[in-house]
Amino acid sequence: MSVKKNETCGLGLAPATASDYRELARKRLPRHLFDYLDGAAYEELTAGENQQAFRRLHLRQRVMRDVSQLNLSSRVLGQELALPLILAPLGLAGAMACRAEVQAARAAEQAGVAFCESTVSIYSIEEVRAATRAPFWYQLYVMRDRGYTRSLLARAQAAGCPVLVLTVDLAVMGARYRDVRNGMAGGLSPGGKLSKAWDLLSHPQWLLDVAVRGKPLTFGNLTVAVPDARSLLEFKAWVDSQFDSRITWKDLAWVRENWPGKIVLKGILDLDDAREAAAAGVDGIVVSNHGGRQLDGVAASIDALPRIADAVGDRLEILMDGGVRSGLDVVKALALGAKACMLGRAWGYAVAARGEAGVAHMLSIMRNEMTVALALCGVTDVAALNREMLLSGGVSEAAGSPATTAHVGSP
Ligand SMILES: Cc1cc2nc3c(=O)[nH]c(=O)nc-3n(C[C@H](O)[C@H](O)[C@H](O)COP(=O)(O)O)c2cc1C
Repeated sequence: MSVKKNETCGLGLAPATASDYRELARKRLPRHLFDYLDGAAYEELTAGENQQAFRRLHLRQRVMRDVSQLNLSSRVLGQELALPLILAPLGLAGAMACRAEVQAARAAEQAGVAFCESTVSIYSIEEVRAATRAPFWYQLYVMRDRGYTRSLLARAQAAGCPVLVLTVDLAVMGARYRDVRNGMAGGLSPGGKLSKAWDLLSHPQWLLDVAVRGKPLTFGNLTVAVPDARSLLEFKAWVDSQFDSRITWKDLAWVRENWPGKIVLKGILDLDDAREAAAAGVDGIVVSNHGGRQLDGVAASIDALPRIADAVGDRLEILMDGGVRSGLDVVKALALGAKACMLGRAWGYAVAARGEAGVAHMLSIMRNEMTVALALCGVTDVAALNREMLLSGGVSEAAGSPATTAHVGSP
């Protein structure tokens, strides 16, 4: 991905940005795990574009306004959040740090943001529940085995999850070439196996933290379904066989029958799909391309956001993710119509590097960046952010949305 190498962290100094944590994670993790976290589909164009598109947006600096009192909190899908942030579902997070899902959920609780547990987490719904008090969200992949899917929904409900994030952009798996080269699905030559073993031995902190203290390394939410699986590869084979590519809008009714809480569709990037989601009556959508890990070559999420917000923003809550690496990015996304942002790799890097303290620090960095951005844009409340806070109303050449020109602010 096209993030510049951070020299500061290379010198062993304190991380100052979420992206600094990427460098720390790169050092801490065995290569195949860093690549799994950092990588994306095919040529990784969309993953890079997710970040580049934020850089093309310019905030409007405003002066001489009273910005002594700022409000960063908001109500997102019925939940009061101190910052408009949700830690996105990250499969296999517990391979990055011992009990990573639990550590991240705790950091989220302390910071007053939401945590979303992935179906394919290492640590289960119940472990996260036992370690936290704040409600957390649950992310579902609808599996071919509907009985098991129903049992997952029942477990999430029993754990008090108020929001179900239904991920819909995984009808088939996009190929992630870094994972293929690293033998994530097997197929390593004897030489490849040797070099992987050497790589593992070269990361003693990770070995102790995860491979020893983090056991058992299983997919915690799926152990009942695959009781005989002895390795993550065997679990993965089951998960891969369970992805259901026949799902359509009609299946939403089945999900609703089995879930009394809020439903959010994650992975909406197209205007027509956003309209269908609104017509289907879901509570929210996440404008997302899965962090560029599915269909490479699609638009950056932030470029897709304004048109979708214009079309359906009054009918459901809009979240976005993809490339959010700073509080300034969050402010830009809110200005373009998102109610909140999901953070994916940002928390993955932080938990890999420093566990719960890393995620807590990364969130405090985001908070500070949002505070400064709001104040210097002359805005005192995140709820008041709109396109007038962006030069040219945030219309990027790439998005070229005529709908956004109606909100052009003065240059
Ligand atoms: C390592 C990794 C694992 C992921 N696993 C899941 C998952 O299990 N379920 C899901 O809905 N999205 C998953 N995603 C996508 C994220 O939830 C999110 O959409 C994406 O990371 C946002 O982009 P960002 O990483 O640039 O913030 C994963 C992303 C990464 C990087």
